[in-house]
Amino acid sequence: MTDGTTTSAPLQDFAGLTALVTGGASGIGAATAALLTARGARVAVLDRDPSGAPEGCLPVAADVTDDAAVRAAVEEAVRELGGLHVLVSNAGIGAIGTVEDNADDEWSRVLDVNVLGMVRTARAALPHLRRAAAARPGTASITHTCSIAATAGLPQRAVYSASKGAVLSLTLAMAADHVREGIRVNCVNPGTADTPWIGRLLDQAGDPAAERAALNARQPMGRLVTADEVAAAIAYLASPAAAGVTGTALAVDGGMQGLRVRPAN
Ligand SMILES: NC(=O)c1ccc[n+]([C@@H]2O[C@H](COP(=O)([O-])OP(=O)(O)OC[C@H]3O[C@@H](n4cnc5c(N)ncnc54)[C@H](O)[C@@H]3O)[C@@H](O)[C@H]2O)c1
Repeated sequence: MTDGTTTSAPLQDFAGLTALVTGGASGIGAATAALLTARGARVAVLDRDPSGAPEGCLPVAADVTDDAAVRAAVEEAVRELGGLHVLVSNAGIGAIGTVEDNADDEWSRVLDVNVLGMVRTARAALPHLRRAAAARPGTASITHTCSIAATAGLPQRAVYSASKGAVLSLTLAMAADHVREGIRVNCVNPGTADTPWIGRLLDQAGDPAAERAALNARQPMGRLVTADEVAAAIAYLASPAAAGVTGTALAVDGGMQGLRVRPAN
C-alpha cells in the first residue's frame, strides 16, 4: 500500500466448501450468500425470484412450497457446485395480525413457506450433507433463519410468531436427529433487520418515519440490525470454527431479547 493503510484479505474459512442459501436473492439471504462467497465457498442461491442473487453465486429458481421444484433445485445446485456442505435455510415471509385477523388459508400459506419450506429443503439436502460430513468431518451444517418472534411476544404477529416458534423447535429436533451423522443444525434469531422486507412493512404504515423510529427504539441499541450483521452470525454457525456448536439459537437483535434497559429520555 502506498497510503500507509493496510487491508487484510477476507478469511478463506469456506475454501473448498459448497453452500446453498434459500431466499438468497434479497436481504439477509443475499448478504449471507455474498459473505460465504467472499470467504471462499462456492454458493448457489435458491429463490422464487433468483434475479437478485449476488455476483458469483449460482442462481436456482424454485419456490420452497413446491417439493418437486425444491428437490430439482437442490440436485442442480449439487451437480453444478460438486457437492453440498452448508445449507442456509432462510426463505420466509411475514404476516401481520392477531389470531382473529388471519383466515385459515393465510395460516396455511405462512406455515407452508416458513416451516414446511425448511423441511422440504432439508429433506432434499440431507443425503448430500451426509456425504460431505463423511468426506470432511466438521463441515456439514444447516442454519435456519428464525426470529426474535420465536422467543418474545410481539404484537400483531400471531401467525408469523407461531411459524418461527416452530422453526426454533424444528432446529432443536433436527440437531438431535443428525448430531451423530456429523451434521450440525442451528438457527439465528434476528431482531428487526433493515432489509427490503422491513421497507415493505414501513410502506404499509400510516406514518413510515414514526414506525421506523418505534422499531429502532424497541431494540436497546436504538437501531435496526443490518443484514450483514445477521449474515456474519450465520457464517459463524456454518463455519468450521463452530464445529462444536449444534442446537443453538444465536440472537442478533441489538439486545432486544436479553436486555431490560430503561427507555431513553
Ligand atoms: N427483516 C427482518 O426484520 C427479519 C427479522 C427476523 C427474521 N427474519 C427472517 O429472515 C429471513 C429473510 O428475511 P429478509 O428480511 O431478508 O426478507 P426479504 O424479503 O428481503 O428476502 C426474502 C427472500 O426470500 C425469498 N422467498 C420468499 N418466499 C419464498 C418462497 N416461497 N420460495 C423461495 N424463495 C422465497 C424472496 O424472494 C426473497 O428473495 C426470513 O426467514 C425472515 O422471517 C427477518
